[in-house]
Amino acid sequence: EDVLPPTRGRLTSRDELDTQFDMDTEDDKARSKAAAIPIRQSDLDTLPSRVATLKISERIDRSISPQKKSKSTIDSPSVTPRQGVSPAPVSRRSENTPSGVTSTLKRRPIAADRTNTLRDYNERLEGRDLLNLVVVGHVDAGKSTLMGHLLVKLKVVDDRAMHRNRTEAARLGKDSFSFAFVLDESEEERSRGVTMDIAQAQFKTKTKIVNLVDAPGHKDFIPNMINGAAQADVGILVVDSRRGEFETGFEYGGQTREHALLLRSLGVSQLICAVNKMDTIEWSQDRFEEIVKKLSAFLKPSGYKDADVTYVPVSGWTGENLITPNNPPLSWYNKDESTSNTTVNGVIHGATLVDLIDRLKPPERPISKPFRFCISDIYRATGVGAGTVSIAGRIECGGVEVNERAILRPSNDQVTIKSIQIENTNVTSAFAGDNVTLNIQGVDPTHLFIGNVVCDPEYPIPCATVIQARIIIFNISVPIIPGTPAVFHFKSMQEQAKIMTLVEELDRLTGELKRRNPRLLPKNSSGVIELVLHRQICCELYSDVKELGRFMLRQSGLTMAAGIITRIIT
Ligand code: GTP
Ligand code: MG
Repeated sequence: EDVLPPTRGRLTSRDELDTQFDMDTEDDKARSKAAAIPIRQSDLDTLPSRVATLKISERIDRSISPQKKSKSTIDSPSVTPRQGVSPAPVSRRSENTPSGVTSTLKRRPIAADRTNTLRDYNERLEGRDLLNLVVVGHVDAGKSTLMGHLLVKLKVVDDRAMHRNRTEAARLGKDSFSFAFVLDESEEERSRGVTMDIAQAQFKTKTKIVNLVDAPGHKDFIPNMINGAAQADVGILVVDSRRGEFETGFEYGGQTREHALLLRSLGVSQLICAVNKMDTIEWSQDRFEEIVKKLSAFLKPSGYKDADVTYVPVSGWTGENLITPNNPPLSWYNKDESTSNTTVNGVIHGATLVDLIDRLKPPERPISKPFRFCISDIYRATGVGAGTVSIAGRIECGGVEVNERAILRPSNDQVTIKSIQIENTNVTSAFAGDNVTLNIQGVDPTHLFIGNVVCDPEYPIPCATVIQARIIIFNISVPIIPGTPAVFHFKSMQEQAKIMTLVEELDRLTGELKRRNPRLLPKNSSGVIELVLHRQICCELYSDVKELGRFMLRQSGLTMAAGIITRIIT
């Protein structure tokens, strides 16, 4: 009875593609317990009373008095009802739930009256699949240039705008960055020739509507890169093919591996590796094959299946092989008819970058689950009426229509969705997978934070301060012990956290129990931990909504571990 758009028919669910994190046992599920705690006004009093674009860097040091724990249990309504909206019916949450076994999420049947909006939604997609694509890779690999040039070739950016970019680049003495300026729009990015924050654009291919996110490569801006990656379904990993340059990016400490690992940990399983700057190495087949070999030897054990990774030789600067095939320098790539369009070790001979984007499998869109919208940016709305606030982010599941009521978590403010925008265009409804701006009314702006979730009032998202999680530990220098502090990166937000308890050490490959209550968790191991968060967050069990159940732990600018939430303790 789930009404899914017809274009979703040939989807492969992301569940099938996940390898690294599909380790949940029935036992875990049995131990899972969800308890959402109402947050008090007094808890929020210390927050600044302004609405602004709250960038990650501004949030990081903001402290708040510790949360008071409440003893709510699974059977108590988790939302304090206020005027207007009826409380969550308790029975709905505990229905069919044997005691002690809890999933936090029930499917929300799609009401018949959503059928029309779903039809509009499909019309908006013009029979195409929606794909959120993030472009990552080491600093200066040519990400912005490659994607900027692609946008020019696809006529998303017109000649006049491109002419302005050229003039501006010449004025700054940065001629070679003219295509990068399509995406690097801030003054500082342009004068430094470095992407600092994510940039977004949309383009269409034969089968896809692509929401593009260009991420920064410099390691100082990894939190911004994670913010972009958190919205993505698929990725393009750009590497610089020049001798020495590929190697620098690929080394320990370079961003090629770190970005690939972060993407995989965030649930991205399909990757296009763009071997860039091929014009500078005379389109050498040997060098291309050498890079493909090195990358695939690393990507496979990192959790990417061979079938989900492709490699393409390109030049972002000269524009070869972006949308037009068969250029003379690439004759070895396009070689004979027999190899054309067959995949050999991830290389599809003759395929351009756009061909490969067209071939990506669209992810499953959990449209029939309850509405959850995760806030990644907040700003004062202009021209949409007094008392309205604009919030940007991604709809993780369910759908929403204009004039619907929703609830903000954890503050429990009741809000009305006044309007919905996608790419600056007003729409009447939006669904899972859409990156949108919602203009909402009824919210106290001081309650709004990045990472908060606007959701279905009848099926509110759980909030947590203590969670149990399964983590995979990266190549860290100091082992994790009880009490280890970490920064918890979750979607676009970050929060101070502490690893309180080491519950189990697991075999990294098989997930089997190695030891209970280990003294420490060493590098490259895997384990179950209990994590205490400085402030309450909105999250789901990984088994309920993957996108809202996975996180990253970082410390002193390095990623320590990636994890999935297996239990919400309080
Ligand atoms: P960050 O976002 O700062 O990590 O860099 P980026 O990966 O976006 O690189 P960007 O596009 O800013 O390009 C860096 C430099 O590489 C610029 O000078 C580009 O002109 C140059 N470049 C990018 N692609 C190519 C290419 O295909 N060939 C040549 N010759 N130069 C390129
Ligand atoms: Mg860039």
